[in-house]
Amino acid sequence: MFSGKTILVTGATSGIGHQLCLELLDEGARVVAVGRNTERLLELSRLSGDVRSINADLTDMESYQSKFDLGEKIDGLVCSAGIYETTLMRYFSVIKHENIMRTNLTAPLALIAELLKNRNFNAGASIVLLSSILGPVTGLIGSASYAASKAALVGCAKTLALELAKYSIRVNCVSPGMVASEMTSGLGYMSTEASNADKARYPLGGRYATLQEVTGPIRFLLSNAASFITGTNMVIDGGCSAQ
Ligand SMILES: NC(=O)c1ccc[n+]([C@@H]2O[C@H](COP(=O)([O-])OP(=O)(O)OC[C@H]3O[C@@H](n4cnc5c(N)ncnc54)[C@H](OP(=O)(O)O)[C@@H]3O)[C@@H](O)[C@H]2O)c1
Repeated sequence: MFSGKTILVTGATSGIGHQLCLELLDEGARVVAVGRNTERLLELSRLSGDVRSINADLTDMESYQSKFDLGEKIDGLVCSAGIYETTLMRYFSVIKHENIMRTNLTAPLALIAELLKNRNFNAGASIVLLSSILGPVTGLIGSASYAASKAALVGCAKTLALELAKYSIRVNCVSPGMVASEMTSGLGYMSTEASNADKARYPLGGRYATLQEVTGPIRFLLSNAASFITGTNMVIDGGCSAQ
């Protein structure tokens, strides 16, 4: 489906972004994989000659000019890099908050701006931002900063969809509920009992999404099958937020 297409994926070294890279390569894409984990980037490069890896800390925007002067056109951008941290409001830390916002919100915007400036997008390109149901749809105690960053992405996608339509660039968000991934396996504060109760909130199967259940909709939004879809937010949560 992606033969002859080049897709840049941030967060390529773990979870959703990593799974997406594998699937895009399987479907004939050339992948520009962005992450900090050198070992994981190397693993991806060893998999296929169609991988170009860029080792970048996306919170370091001053490095963007040198790191993202790609010298090639891309047909898609998926911003999957993100961090999740919880803090109750009475322990609010500006430093923690700003790091979450910088990673989850400012970095995708700065990257899009850099790629636009360098005229890296082909006409017809598709941008997919990883939001979450947590923020635009639901709340969760202790997650104000994360929720703010993810809700803001949905607003940004609408504005960018309007702004970039004249270049035939589409911009959409996907908003997963909980996904069985490295990010959620680190939630050590949840007992097995609490985790089972949480999964029971998901009507489809009483479980979290698999990585493939998130990457499938992302590949759809990247593809020509979604050629008239822009400015939307696709919720992927097994019906959790429909209740
Ligand atoms: N997992 C879920 O349940 C869930 C639910 C809803 C939304 N989401 C969103 O989906 C996205 C992917 O989640 P995931 O589960 O795949 O997460 P993950 O497994 O924890 O992976 C996070 C990725 O982000 C990259 N990253 C983080 N900070 C970075 C930085 N400063 N510079 C460069 N890369 C950075 C990491 O790169 P390195 O490892 O190389 O540092 C890693 O590849 C995130 O935006 C997340 O908020 C996830």
